[in-house]
Amino acid sequence: MSSNESLANLLKEERRFAPPGELAAAANVTAEAYGRAKADRLAFWAEQARRLTWAQEPTQTLDWSNPPFAKWFADGKLNVAYNCVDRHVEAGLGDRVAIHFEGEPGDSRAITYAELKDEVAKAANALLELGIRKGDRVAVYLPMIPEAVVAMLACARIGAPHSVVFGGFSADAVASRIQDADAKLVITADGGYRRGKPSALKPAIDTALESCPQVEHVLVVRRTGQETAWTEGRDVWWDEITARQSTAHTPEAHDAEHPLFILYTSGTTGKPKGILHTTGGYLTQTAFTHHAVFDLKPETDVYWCTADIGWVTGHSYIVYGPLANGATQVMYEGTPDTPHQGRIFEIVQKYGVTILYTAPTLIRTWMKWGDAIPAKFDLSSLRLLGSVGEPINPEAWIWYREHIGGGRCPIVDTWWQTETGSIMISPLPGVTEAKPGSAQVPLPGISATVVDDEAHEVPDGSGGYLVLTEPWPSMLRTIWGDDQRYVDTYWSRFEGRYFAGDGAKKDEDGDIWLLGRVDDVMLVSGHNISTTEVESALVSHPQVAEAAVVGATDATTGQAIVAFVILRGTATDSEELVAELRDHVGKVLGPIAKPKRILTVSELPKTRSGKIMRRLLRDVAENRAVGDVTTLADSTVMDLIQSKMPTAP
Ligand code: WT7
Repeated sequence: MSSNESLANLLKEERRFAPPGELAAAANVTAEAYGRAKADRLAFWAEQARRLTWAQEPTQTLDWSNPPFAKWFADGKLNVAYNCVDRHVEAGLGDRVAIHFEGEPGDSRAITYAELKDEVAKAANALLELGIRKGDRVAVYLPMIPEAVVAMLACARIGAPHSVVFGGFSADAVASRIQDADAKLVITADGGYRRGKPSALKPAIDTALESCPQVEHVLVVRRTGQETAWTEGRDVWWDEITARQSTAHTPEAHDAEHPLFILYTSGTTGKPKGILHTTGGYLTQTAFTHHAVFDLKPETDVYWCTADIGWVTGHSYIVYGPLANGATQVMYEGTPDTPHQGRIFEIVQKYGVTILYTAPTLIRTWMKWGDAIPAKFDLSSLRLLGSVGEPINPEAWIWYREHIGGGRCPIVDTWWQTETGSIMISPLPGVTEAKPGSAQVPLPGISATVVDDEAHEVPDGSGGYLVLTEPWPSMLRTIWGDDQRYVDTYWSRFEGRYFAGDGAKKDEDGDIWLLGRVDDVMLVSGHNISTTEVESALVSHPQVAEAAVVGATDATTGQAIVAFVILRGTATDSEELVAELRDHVGKVLGPIAKPKRILTVSELPKTRSGKIMRRLLRDVAENRAVGDVTTLADSTVMDLIQSKMPTAP
């Protein structure tokens, strides 16, 4: 059996869920869009660009004369902040709530589009007063508070690319990102609320700036009121400077290819990559995909994406896509278990959230906490659910559908990356018959396929590497300051195609299943086995909430499968259970995929964006000292796991 066949034939998921009739009948995008986009892809995107309000309409669509450096809508001019805010107010929608903000301590604030317009204009004027000009870079290091949205839009308004750094990152991580982008200004806060306590942010900036002499000012939002060290002449309170600004600010029309933001991917290896996104194509595709995939009806929907603004999901599906579409959305500052494990559901109930977009890691955490928690809340307002960030295990998908979606909401499993800027592969909620665990189909206007080592497209039923075969409007334009690395990382593995770094397979219907990063594929006795599939098989056992699988070097089989599992609340660890889990995997996937060892643990090592760090688990499984843990959300987790290893050093 070739490795591709073994990849392809493992998991058999046969459950199917048709779109709810009512949703399908009123869906924003119907099946017809696929055909139209296929007939003329560029005309399709030119049409989507008209969702935006341009100061100068583009006459060009794509300039691909110097691949892989794309230009989209190059002769068009527009202002992103105008598109996200002002134009809705001009259309008479100023009283519509843009953001329902929910602070972790329970404070809340509703901000209308008219209010948001004033806030953004004042902040833009404040940036100008601080000497920031078009093209200057601004670093943003804020908690999940409305000022984060205001700061990003104010930067966009004056054409100063922002570089948002997740508030959980250390001073070192912030410093290297500020240096790489050569930012002139940092916008931060005294702190934010996390797990019931104020958590300081400004000290990390103070430390970071010791090695960033080019930063002229630090703009500080007052959120917690905690005591804050101050550098006179450099530090400026946000509320003081914005209070004296005018609410009048005329948005300048920027070129479609003007840089909008840089966002660093955490990068499991090497120096973080500054992913550069530009203006017109990015906003076109975030607006279109938000409209199409979430079926947003701006008059009636209450949308909520639980991501942090420090990740691309927050950029594209909290700030730019939803606001360009005039959405009403919820923004939550804190953690999902503060002050109790039902907090997310309580907020859904409070605001009548209709569309919920979250990550598999949180869904599996809810599974672990137990079905009784969501059952205590009224979640009947929900009509659509989304997932992003990792492959979603079919069992977690089913749990999400039943326990959160009440069995009635379609789920959109959205595949994309920081680099792609917007959703690329996803079901359409009113069109696609959903398969739990599969992102299924490239969106209209997107071209993706799966290829083998020799770049040949694999037949249906086989596996290989996910590639994108045509440029798309919201694609990264380069890696900031390193064009060569951009070419090498994404465009060199397969000639003329974008290499996403994910393993994937096509099923018999041609639908795409994501199998995790290619580094996470295991080679056992000559068979390629995806960590994702073994994890999904484990999670499909009723006693398992979450699983992480790695391949550990093995003298006889090349690699051996080692699994780390978190049991559900009710289950207890025993040798019998471990044996049962091994057999279960054997039954679901075949004997070749049976883990050699299964260890039960209480936590798994995850990045701050919720991705499992299999590299560290591999270290444990191979009895090595654990590698770099600086990007772990909780570095004590590794000690706990190592203590479970019988042969741990
Ligand atoms: C990587 C990109 C896109 C926003 C959040 C992550 C994995 C993402 C899915 C999905 C399977 C997924 C991929 C991808 N991924 N969504 N629906 N199914 N895998 O952005 O940090 O740039 O990570 O996340 O491995 O390459 P990111």
